[in-house]
Amino acid sequence: VTSPLLQALREAKLVVCAGPGGVGKTTTSAALGLRAARSGRRTLVLTIDPAKRLADALGMATIGSEPHPVEAEGVPPGHLWAMMLDVRTALERLVGERVSDAETVGRLESNRLWKLLTEAMAGMQEYAAVDRLYDQYRSGRYDLIILDTPPSTHALDFLDAAKRLSRLFDRRIIRWLLPAGKAGLGRLFSPGAALTKLLGAVLGEAFVTDLVEFFGAADALIDPFQERGDAIRKLLLGPETAFVLVTGPEGRRIDESLGFARELERQGQRATAFVVNRTLAAEDLDTPIAAVAHLLEEHGPEAQARVLADLDRFRQALSIQAAHERAACARLVAAVGEPAVVRVPHLGEDVHDLATLHELADRLG
Ligand SMILES: Nc1ncnc2c1ncn2[C@@H]1O[C@H](COP(=O)(O)OP(=O)(O)O)[C@@H](O)[C@H]1O
Ligand SMILES: [Mg+2]
Repeated sequence: VTSPLLQALREAKLVVCAGPGGVGKTTTSAALGLRAARSGRRTLVLTIDPAKRLADALGMATIGSEPHPVEAEGVPPGHLWAMMLDVRTALERLVGERVSDAETVGRLESNRLWKLLTEAMAGMQEYAAVDRLYDQYRSGRYDLIILDTPPSTHALDFLDAAKRLSRLFDRRIIRWLLPAGKAGLGRLFSPGAALTKLLGAVLGEAFVTDLVEFFGAADALIDPFQERGDAIRKLLLGPETAFVLVTGPEGRRIDESLGFARELERQGQRATAFVVNRTLAAEDLDTPIAAVAHLLEEHGPEAQARVLADLDRFRQALSIQAAHERAACARLVAAVGEPAVVRVPHLGEDVHDLATLHELADRLG
């Protein structure tokens, strides 16, 4: 019997890696992609925020608008592709580049309209990400697409990206923002209006013009957004998609992912597998104390005893942690069944090269 995770890698068209930030979603996405590609499926990994060295290892030094091939041992040529999505908003980028003093940033951020704008743009970006995904899915070039999800947003937000976007772009709001007639700017962007001045001063007049155009374009896009959004939602919640919840061995992380799974269920989708990443490896606990003692022979009995006592304390601390981890995993297994739980050991150092990624891919069950 193969595990649900391996079955998904063989049969699903789309695998979504979800979970809280920092648990290893991006790394796991890449490892899953490698594993699927090695088995002969044409696979695209859509990553969000790969650590620089992982991006280098995958040959994606820059954010690309197109997927590009990854060469890796054991992968038939042209079977592994990677693409990096940019989810930082245009606004965040602009502000980051141009505004250095905290006071101005604070002033902007406490402005209610500014909040509306950033939210709208964040929604836009999120939507753009799922939209790219959908394009790639429909291209028919891949047997499987693996979607990494952003570090901060809740992955389920992805499901509703289009819906939320159209809510933000409520026609009434847009009318209010837009120029009233051709001649001048609208209520918000009228010359002399507080926000216009602030934005103009901080970001430049050209940016304000861009913004007005942006909202103008948004109005025309509401209906297509909604249609595509529905199609994307259907795909994500449908039988061709598998959700892999990446989590950590800590109790609170396990609870978090169980909560996520329940939420997913309410939306009509199931969590296919739980990857408990960075568990303590059994080898870590077998501290080769004897070998160390041997090395210490020339240092005299006192130094030897001291080092051995330190090592023993270290070993005890590790076994306490391992016991906590086992208890948390047991809770997960009780809730979702053993086959759905995949434990991946902490590999000791960052996973930033293909060799380590292969090792991770091997540990996926
Ligand atoms: N099993 C593992 N063993 C060792 N390091 C890991 C493992 N999984 C992930 N890492 C490291 O942890 C860091 C965070 O991983 P990442 O995949 O970027 O997390 P996320 O995408 O969830 O924020 C990275 O530096 C990565 O190399
Ligand atoms: Mg990530």
